[in-house]
Amino acid sequence: MASLLTRWFFVLCLALFAVTISDCKDLFELSAIVPRYAKLGETVVLRCNHTVADNQLYKVQWTKSNDKLFQYIRGRVPPFINHTIPGAKIDWGQTSSSNLALMDVQHDASGLYGCTVTTESPIYSKTSEFHELTVIKIQNVDPTIDISKEVFNVGDILDATCTSGPSKPVPEITWLVNGRKPPDTYMKPILKAASDSATAMRLTLPVSDRLGAEVHLTCLSTIPGFLNEKSDYHDYADYRSSSIIVSVAVKSEPVTAGCGKEFISTVAVVAVAAVVVAATANAAAATTAFPT
Ligand SMILES: *[C@@H]1O[C@H](CO)[C@@H](O)[C@H](O)[C@H]1NC(C)=O
Ligand SMILES: *[C@@H]1O[C@H](CO)[C@@H](O)[C@H](O)[C@H]1NC(C)=O
Repeated sequence: MASLLTRWFFVLCLALFAVTISDCKDLFELSAIVPRYAKLGETVVLRCNHTVADNQLYKVQWTKSNDKLFQYIRGRVPPFINHTIPGAKIDWGQTSSSNLALMDVQHDASGLYGCTVTTESPIYSKTSEFHELTVIKIQNVDPTIDISKEVFNVGDILDATCTSGPSKPVPEITWLVNGRKPPDTYMKPILKAASDSATAMRLTLPVSDRLGAEVHLTCLSTIPGFLNEKSDYHDYADYRSSSIIVSVAVKSEPVTAGCGKEFISTVAVVAVAAVVVAATANAAAATTAFPT
């Protein structure tokens, strides 16, 4: 008899426990709103976006990676505990139970931030997803373009290098040819010394007549890297660009005059033909991946 009672009691406890758990699961919604990028020295406001009523709220805590950063406890005097925040100071004017304002942010403030909210009754805690904040030192100059020449013939290889100004993190460079990103196979990063916070990208592109008589070359140096053709500077945390226009010359006919020159011009014609074949092959290869 006693054992039966114990068993029933056990089952009852389990059921109660299950009900409590499932109740608690969706007691409230919670998300941390953290800007993806902040510029050095700026103020950023991190928002712990929850649906807990004020009179149900017990505690809001901010965590950076695994470190406790900031804590608000309702009813405590004062309600905030001062933790040291790496790479930032607290802007008390904009800080509240659910907002944490960091001012004069430095690179050390970069990291993953999340918040935990605890309700009073039932006592229940939930932690948001963590979001990354990156503090950036923006570029203070436009990228520079180095190019061997500005007039090309069909079949030539256009060879240009774009070098960014320094920034932290290092920006990403993207070339646009007539407003479109060419296949990655035409672009090659040039490694800079590890201490250098600039970067460079070399473009080597076979010149085909599909590019048109004028080729617009643009170099973007951005944080984050290239988004898409429709993005403009607003969509980047840091955006710099430089452009040049190069021309593709109309091919002239090989000259044939006199015996001595005939052999040479035949060689020239064969050479030109070879270039045309190569260019056509290139153009055919380019058409599939890079229609212009
Ligand atoms: C804040 O949370 C609510 C409820 O979950 C959600 O609907 C809303 O989109 C969130 N606000 C922002 C800015 O993410
Ligand atoms: C935390 O530090 C700030 C700045 O030093 C100060 O103004 C504030 O009163 C402190 N708050 C608490 C709760 O100690």
